[in-house]
Amino acid sequence: MKKHICSPLIGLAIIFAAQFPASAENNQKLEVFSWWTSGGEAAALDALFQTYKRQYPGIEIINATVAGGGGSAARPVLQTRLAGGNPPDTWQTHPGWELLGQYVEAGYCLPIGDIYKSEGWEKVVPQQLIDLLSRNGKPYAVLCGIHRGNDLWYNKKLLDKNGITVGDSMSFDEFFAACEKLKAAGITPLAVGDSGIWATAQLFENTLLGTVGPDAWKALFSGKMSFDDPKVKQAAKTYGRMLDYQNPDHSALTWDQATKAVMEGRCAFTSMGDWAHGEFTKANLEDNKDFGWVTCPGTNGAFIIVADGFPLAKGAPHSEAATDWLKSIGSKEAQEAFNPLKGSIPVRTDVDKSKFGPYLQWSMQSFSKDALLPSVVHGEAAPAAFQQALNDAITQFVVDKNAEALSAALVQAAKDSNIAK
Ligand code: GAL
Repeated sequence: MKKHICSPLIGLAIIFAAQFPASAENNQKLEVFSWWTSGGEAAALDALFQTYKRQYPGIEIINATVAGGGGSAARPVLQTRLAGGNPPDTWQTHPGWELLGQYVEAGYCLPIGDIYKSEGWEKVVPQQLIDLLSRNGKPYAVLCGIHRGNDLWYNKKLLDKNGITVGDSMSFDEFFAACEKLKAAGITPLAVGDSGIWATAQLFENTLLGTVGPDAWKALFSGKMSFDDPKVKQAAKTYGRMLDYQNPDHSALTWDQATKAVMEGRCAFTSMGDWAHGEFTKANLEDNKDFGWVTCPGTNGAFIIVADGFPLAKGAPHSEAATDWLKSIGSKEAQEAFNPLKGSIPVRTDVDKSKFGPYLQWSMQSFSKDALLPSVVHGEAAPAAFQQALNDAITQFVVDKNAEALSAALVQAAKDSNIAK
């Protein structure tokens, strides 16, 4: 009798299991896709994983990374997976055009307003940031931190030794005077690691901002000012002048190897987002003692935002674990563990600020009072097509230093990507 009752149930279970293979078991995993592979990046990502494991024990994390700063190699891999209907559960992305234009518009992400509500984030995350992640009033990602793109880092001991003092801000003239002095002393003034072209494109981005200022920056990326403007050409010339001071092996180095060249005193300065601070931290170097920083020449009072967020994939293989991941990275605990290692500032306003060192305190101050601007190199200010055209034009510029050609390429890119009206 018993046998008769059980066997249909077992049969049903077998059919069910065949139709929905290991759905319960699958939910014990979580695939997180990113390009966080440098020393500082990997350490910070691990802090997110450890926090998640504490908050949601028993889930195996698949750490799907594709090396290459700025996501230059990761994004094409991700795109292929998304287009092929094989999404990771969640992936690293930037707000603005990248998230909304590339992923939300194409239908790859689910809205997550209910998570914002259940976690009470509307009270602790500034609305301005939520807006950068939202379409039609619905948020599509959770930010784990905010980087500042326009920083100039330097080896403090090396500058001290050469009698160079950096104040609270730096003009282009002051920068070039320091470079001349260093060059005369046989030191390579500027470290660039443009094996991924984005790193030198970012040097141009910072120089462009330093030349045109925040209002013109907004005008350029909303089609109200042309890339044909004499100031854009001036920025290109200044950027070309900077390249005269860079390390000869720049095209063989990654951004973090260039940062290392500064740490080791082989070069004096590097212009890089504050993920470089994550590298200094990883190397146990001390703020204001071993290294220093200042806003990139001419950019005092402006903060180029490079924010990192994660969305929820539509069709996520482990959607429950992915939802928990988003809750976790937005938690106070995760933000306090991740950001001091990553070199970014937290998104939440209720974190314990004493957990952040001098540089990050400085960056929080800057964020609270400066003009906040989106980065084009990191996919926020303009569509991906413009970002690609900029990288191509910069690749050419590094060789020919032709300011007219760079400006003309950007004019064309603005037309092609519908920035120019
Ligand atoms: C940016 C990203 C940062 C950092 C950097 C270098 O695009 O937002 O978190 O990882 O690339 O890889």
